[in-house]
Amino acid sequence: MELADRIAELRELIAHHNRRYHELDDPEITDGEFDLLARELQRLEAEHPDLAGPDSPVAAVGGAPNTAFSPVVHSVRMASLDNAMDLDELRAWGERVLRGLNGVPARFVGELKIDGVAISIRYESGQYVRAATRGDGTVGEDVTANVATVLGIPEVLAAPDPSAPLLEHRQIPDLLEVRGEVYLPIATFEDLNHAAGLSGEHRFVNPRNAAAGSLRQKDAAVTARRRLQMWAYQVGEIKGAAPMTSHHESLEYLAGLGFPVNPEIRLLDDLEAVIAHCQYWQEHRHDLGYEIDGVVIKVDDLAQRELLGSTSRAPRWAIAFKFPPEERTTMLNDIQVSVGRTGRVTPFAVLEPVFVSGSTVAMATLHNEDQVRIKDVRPGDTVVVRKAGDVIPEVVGPVLALRPSDSEPWVFPTRCPCPMASTLQRPEGEANTRCVELACPFQRDQRVIYWASRQAMDIDGLGERTITQLSAASMIADPADLYSLTADQVEHLEGFARPSAEKLIAAIAESRQRPLPRLLTALGIKHLGPAAAAALSQRLGTLDRVIAADAAELAAVEGVGPVIAGSIRAWFDVSSNRAFIEKLRAAEIDFGDPERAATTAGGAANDLPQVLEGMTVVVSGTLPGYTRDGAIEAITSRGGKSPGSVSAKTDALVVGDAPGASKVAKAEQLRIPILDAAGFEKLLVRGHIPSQ
Ligand code: IVH
Repeated sequence: MELADRIAELRELIAHHNRRYHELDDPEITDGEFDLLARELQRLEAEHPDLAGPDSPVAAVGGAPNTAFSPVVHSVRMASLDNAMDLDELRAWGERVLRGLNGVPARFVGELKIDGVAISIRYESGQYVRAATRGDGTVGEDVTANVATVLGIPEVLAAPDPSAPLLEHRQIPDLLEVRGEVYLPIATFEDLNHAAGLSGEHRFVNPRNAAAGSLRQKDAAVTARRRLQMWAYQVGEIKGAAPMTSHHESLEYLAGLGFPVNPEIRLLDDLEAVIAHCQYWQEHRHDLGYEIDGVVIKVDDLAQRELLGSTSRAPRWAIAFKFPPEERTTMLNDIQVSVGRTGRVTPFAVLEPVFVSGSTVAMATLHNEDQVRIKDVRPGDTVVVRKAGDVIPEVVGPVLALRPSDSEPWVFPTRCPCPMASTLQRPEGEANTRCVELACPFQRDQRVIYWASRQAMDIDGLGERTITQLSAASMIADPADLYSLTADQVEHLEGFARPSAEKLIAAIAESRQRPLPRLLTALGIKHLGPAAAAALSQRLGTLDRVIAADAAELAAVEGVGPVIAGSIRAWFDVSSNRAFIEKLRAAEIDFGDPERAATTAGGAANDLPQVLEGMTVVVSGTLPGYTRDGAIEAITSRGGKSPGSVSAKTDALVVGDAPGASKVAKAEQLRIPILDAAGFEKLLVRGHIPSQ
């Protein structure tokens, strides 16, 4: 895909998901997945300011106020919080605070970080007058009528504690802005979704989105029915009351005025107590009836807060300790196997749908036979599920205490689940089990699905459901058959009518003209990913020249190498594959332009600065914002080499999530610089190894 096209696509996707999240409160992807898209666009725009344009959605991330509600300018800015992602970062923050106070000891307040919607509520002379969402921190949305329906929010402030030591604390303030979090208890959320499911209405993905959606109802009567709740956690503006000296005291004051203040708030004497408090809640987060995503630690003394001040984003006197990826338990209803396009048979868990880290999970791969045995998961087990890297669902293991007494280990099937039921094979010493029947209808369907997919021929509107229907009706046996389908045939399929059938036929026809790298990728040859396909196309120009090249010629192409070359050669040497190629030729698929190769051979295929010319950079693990091939392509498209292993010639090793231990060890042994994702980004821009 052209860079400009990818940028346009990312903009469209981000605008779409921004709208789903901020305006409809109904995200389709997790926050982590969204971040990957946003980071990719930010990176591309930074690298290509000429393509950036003035209206980039990444600049708007974080939600412009919804125009359906009037804007409210917050009298005191609603700052956000900096995050500590682990205990080391938390300790580092604590030490910074103590240094900032020149060694004067500080006490802290530990609060739960409620996963809801931040609001600010204003009282004048004890009367509820206005409520607003956080918005961008400066301007929020007026949700006065809706917040008035939240349970426990006083309409009129209660007379505070008559025994308070300060006279002013026995009075109602002239002006008070209270900040807090509106949330939906888990049980209420489940009831809401249950009812929605029964009546065929829209279900919310999680309590936070349900709370946000409920708060933004145009009709406050609908909000009232949702039974939202609130915890107050901060005083915004206050006039006409004695100045408080500490945060815990101000929370007691709020409680006295009638606000719901969370009972789990603790005063913590030192950093050790802070750490123990965070560890405690990390383990007990599910003991509560509402969702929390961390612990907020605040300096208690308000004079010390003044001294520490704020950055433009967040106060220095507070930090949000965020919990690591969430784990949930659910029932493993079954273990089934799926057959991939190469015949690989993969077991997967069929789960009782469970909500984990931002989306509902109903399936998770179990990778292979050994993994099922090692994890010892069995149908009927209660299992722990989490999102690996916060994106891909993963079964961690069974809860053995809940295993039924008659449970039996799961046994890998001996036959393919397809109607041909051919015998499955697992070669000695290999982890994968395969169906080696080339005519296997499940494999065949998967090959067509891959052919039509976005990374290959990108046929709009041709998804898995349509392909399995076409195949079951014997209308197609391989991807080449797609090109002789007619609208008359397609319109009889489930979910189609005449116009949609014609549209699909047009989309299929249009895919004949896809550029050669896509066609090469679509063939599904083992090891031949988009990066190598691009390199081959650039050097050889046409499919016929790729077919005619011997293994040595293929291996000589920069970015291909002997393994990929051998695999390509072997694939084209299979006679049924050659017959398939001829079928594609007869279907008038564009095999590439013989002219193009001659003119571009040797030169760069893009106009990126060739900053990595002469450098060898190895990638291990997944980097945020890149597929494996994408990371390699980022290197080769800038003139660098990216082989699969570390050697003395390697200039740098880039490590993402779950890197290969042997590569890291080898790089350490050879004293080769190791870069993280941020270092990689710098390398791509500057072309030299950033200092660590
Ligand atoms: S204090 C200047 N306390 O977390 C201090 N925030 O990541 C402002 N939140 O926007 C916030 N529980 O929506 C604070 N006990 C708590 C909180 C809390 C949840 C949310 C709040 C804020 C976000 C910052």
